[in-house]
Amino acid sequence: MATQPGGNLGPEFTQKVIDSMGPNTPPRLREIMDSFIRHIHAFANEVQLTSDEWLLGVEMINWAGQMSNEKRNESQLMCDVIGLETLVDDITYTAATKSVNGLTASAILGPFYRHDHPVRKNGTTISFNTPKDAKPAFMYGRVTDAVTGKPLANTSIDVWQASTNGLYEQQDPEQEDLNLRGRFLTDAEGRYSYYCLRPTPYPIPEDGPAGKMLRMMDRHFYRPAHIHLYVRSEGYKPLVTQIFDKDCTYLGNDTVFAVKDELSVEFKPRTGDPEASWEVEYNITLASSSS
Ligand code: BEZ
Ligand code: FE
Repeated sequence: MATQPGGNLGPEFTQKVIDSMGPNTPPRLREIMDSFIRHIHAFANEVQLTSDEWLLGVEMINWAGQMSNEKRNESQLMCDVIGLETLVDDITYTAATKSVNGLTASAILGPFYRHDHPVRKNGTTISFNTPKDAKPAFMYGRVTDAVTGKPLANTSIDVWQASTNGLYEQQDPEQEDLNLRGRFLTDAEGRYSYYCLRPTPYPIPEDGPAGKMLRMMDRHFYRPAHIHLYVRSEGYKPLVTQIFDKDCTYLGNDTVFAVKDELSVEFKPRTGDPEASWEVEYNITLASSSS
């Protein structure tokens, strides 16, 4: 424990707070709270946190709570800009799949997922308010078992993306409900396909405490161009991930730190298809629940 030049409370104080937990505290909660209290006391000591600075942090957290609702999760956004969702996602997915090689990597869910994606037919579109500046694209691929290579039929793939104005449909009254999102089920060979937009970079919401934090830290607001995927197959571990356009700016400095090299994909020109001028193939491998 760091010593504190500006305070008299030593490590005994931290231990006293930890020891105040009663015998009925569940073991995992005890483990988490023990560590959390030790780290947050050490942090306050290390930076010699003042009452005014602490209160500013409290006000930011309160503001995040007041802004959050079923369409907006500002507290999650605050975690995202300090890399916490990416870190926790990596810990969780690595722990769940550690014995399996060659798996598709995970990436954060983010705050714009909806649970009520409509099932759409393979080969159809998720774009119903296609903007003039959009580049329609065709995305396709297969889902297979990471170990055996067996095709995984009837796998459900939820996809969602922002429009070219940088907004998801629930943020934008101009887009129809459920625009740019859908659920696709793989066929007997594990194949899926759909039309979407070649994604474009967009800024995360700037009008709350996460935006204020970014501004104070002299950082930009942008996420690189990406499409979100949530893949679920009976008997397999679920996968939440994103694919990133490898030609996109911000690939090297995503404001929420979600990019992984293996999730960068190449959009190629598509010929002979009036519906799309770009295409991308993306194959997905899953780990069985028993692995
Ligand atoms: C997103 O990709 O949708 C997202 C992720 C983290 C923060 C904001 C948006
Ligand atoms: Fe996104």
